[in-house]
Amino acid sequence: MAFTYFFRDMQTLDFIKEYAIPELRNRQHINIWDAGCAMGPEPYSIAIIFRESMGRFQFRNLKICATDVDISDQFGKIIREGVYPDEMVKRIPPEFLKKYFAPNGAPGMFKLADEIINSVSFQREDLLELKPPREGFGLIVCKNVLLHFKEEERVNVIRMFHKALSPGGFFVMEQTQKLPKAVTGLFEPVVSNAQLFRKG
Ligand SMILES: C[S@@+](CC[C@H](N)C(=O)[O-])C[C@H]1O[C@@H](n2cnc3c(N)ncnc32)[C@H](O)[C@@H]1O
Repeated sequence: MAFTYFFRDMQTLDFIKEYAIPELRNRQHINIWDAGCAMGPEPYSIAIIFRESMGRFQFRNLKICATDVDISDQFGKIIREGVYPDEMVKRIPPEFLKKYFAPNGAPGMFKLADEIINSVSFQREDLLELKPPREGFGLIVCKNVLLHFKEEERVNVIRMFHKALSPGGFFVMEQTQKLPKAVTGLFEPVVSNAQLFRKG
């Protein structure tokens, strides 16, 4: 199973909150792509951060398309059910755990609120096939995935992300993943101390 957990990278979530949400929240439709989403804690953490910044009606306009190659063939079921064990939820800020999760009956298991589950849909997809699920994304998140690819594959996948973003859309990777030279001209850095970029 892939390694992931809720609120894995608080710094990046804070940057999304500070820079991306204020621009995206007023769009009529907010489309986000989480590429390499594993069992769902990452797209669901993003959904919670957006929900905290917008009202119930506005939040209904947010759709997160979560994709993964998913060799286990389990991620879709886990994401749809939204039930996660203690070790995946323990780093969630306590106020969000209380607000968005309920004990599931089974010891140490927590069920996510339907409102958050309904904002995420899962699709199996191999990024190396270079077929985005759609275009016009306001935000693409791809974390702890590109490091597994060869340089040329990384460049091709990032070019695909660029094409799939709407004008001014945001792209974010993990802190340790730098943009390959071949694609630096496609994006503008949003902050100096994070891998958060805007489509140029
Ligand atoms: C370490 S997990 C990262 C999960 C999440 N993004 C995070 O940072 O917590 C890496 C994920 O990348 C997915 N992955 C690896 N190669 C992929 C590919 N070619 N296309 C799509 N997903 C891929 C794996 O299945 C795995 O779920």
